Amino acid sequence: MKDLVLSLFPKTIFMSKLNNSKKEINEILKTLENIKTYKSYQNTASSYGNVTHASNQKNVLELLPKLKNKIFSKFNYFLKKEMAYKNDFKFTTSWISKTVNDQISMYHNHKNCMYSGVYYPDMDKDSAPLFFFQENNSSFFLEPSEHKLCNTSEVKIMPPSDAVIFFPSELFHCIGKHSSNKIRYCIAFNFFPIGNLGQADSYAEVKC
Ligand SMILES: [Fe+2]
Repeated sequence: MKDLVLSLFPKTIFMSKLNNSKKEINEILKTLENIKTYKSYQNTASSYGNVTHASNQKNVLELLPKLKNKIFSKFNYFLKKEMAYKNDFKFTTSWISKTVNDQISMYHNHKNCMYSGVYYPDMDKDSAPLFFFQENNSSFFLEPSEHKLCNTSEVKIMPPSDAVIFFPSELFHCIGKHSSNKIRYCIAFNFFPIGNLGQADSYAEVKC
């Protein structure tokens, strides 16, 4: 028998492109440029530095119905084909983050939702990456000779333009340092499962 190396209970994230044309991306950017943003809510007492800005508006995707449909159909592919969930989900909120040169965000996760996602219309090689972090409950911290998924607690992703990413909402994430002079727009959103959830003592019914 070959040796078995099994990383148990993964946090599964999904990234794909939406195949928007340059014209469609420009229309999306034009809409995003007109949305007011404020210093991010993450700028709490425990936050510091030059943090990204976010919109107060929590239904941004209503302004972009074609994009909303594309994101939703990609999310359903991820849910049904990759995660094999039977339930449908609904968007609860969608907002934007606007990051200019030298800005970052704090690590945070999203509550009151099961999955979250981000869409990046226009990125370049110096645009801020997205980081994911999983707390390691071990009492030991050792330096590996090589970073692999089985020995790391932080992963950096450089999303290309027109990329959408879905991730479990409890996963801690942040925007790395933005080194580009181009504004980094990101549409973020949350999903909630609907219908009959689970069974027995964990059963719940969520009406749409
Ligand atoms: Fe977030």
